[in-house]
Amino acid sequence: MKLLLTVLRRTQKPALYRGHRNRSLSSSPSSGLSPVRDDALVVGSSQELVRRLGSQVEVRTSFITEEEEGAFLQELEPGLKKKRYEYDHWDDAIHGYRETERARWGAACEEVLNRVRSSAFPEGSQLLGPVHILDLDKNGFIKPHIDSVKFCGSTIAGLSLLSDSIMRLVREDNSSEWLDLLLPRRSLYILRDEARYNFTHEILKEEDSVFSGQLVPRLRRISIICRNLPG
Ligand code: OGA
Ligand code: MN
Repeated sequence: MKLLLTVLRRTQKPALYRGHRNRSLSSSPSSGLSPVRDDALVVGSSQELVRRLGSQVEVRTSFITEEEEGAFLQELEPGLKKKRYEYDHWDDAIHGYRETERARWGAACEEVLNRVRSSAFPEGSQLLGPVHILDLDKNGFIKPHIDSVKFCGSTIAGLSLLSDSIMRLVREDNSSEWLDLLLPRRSLYILRDEARYNFTHEILKEEDSVFSGQLVPRLRRISIICRNLPG
C-alpha cells in the first residue's frame, strides 16, 4: 500500500517554488477566517486564468457538518494514532505526515463519501477502490507534485478536516501561471482535467499560508481523498 501511495505522486523539482511568492504578509494577520463566498476561494495570477480554469477547480465550503467531521475522526483516529508522522524522507512529496487508505466505512462516513462521489465524478466513472487518508502534522506540508497519470484518472476530490489550508496550483511548464485555493475546514475541493494534469498542486506550510493578504493558521489537517481510475 505504501508503494501505491508513493507512486501516486511525482514530486517536482524545487524550482517550481520560484516566481509566485512575491505577495507580502499582512501587517495585521487576524486569526480565523472571515466568511467568504465559494467564488472568493480561488485567486490566481490573472483573472483570465481564474475564469478559464474555473470549471476545473472547485471549492465547496461546509460540504460536511461538524457531526460528519466527528464521524470521520472517530473512524480514523485509532488507526492513525498507531503510526508516527514521517519527516525525513527528502524524496517524499510530503513532509510531516502519516497516511492510510480505507475501503469499508461506517454508515455515516459512507453517506458523505457517496455525496463526494456524486458531486465530483462523472456518472459511471470507475473509482480507485480505497479512499486515501492523509494526516498532516501542524508543521506538515505537501510539495508541488502531479498525481501519477498511470494510477489516477482525470479527477481528484478531497475533504479537509480539522484545519483550513491553502492549496497552490502552478502550471508545470510556466510557473508564472498559478492559482491559490483556500480550503476551509470541512470543505470539499475538486481538481479536474487541465488543473489536474498540467498544474502541480501543493499544500502550503503555515509560514507561507497567506491568502489574499490574510494569514491562514495551519493546524493538524486530515484530508480524505477520492480519485478515479485512468479512462
Ligand atoms: C496527495 C495530495 C492533497 C490533500 O496526497 O497526492 O495532493 O488535500 N493531497 O491532502
Ligand atoms: Mn496530489
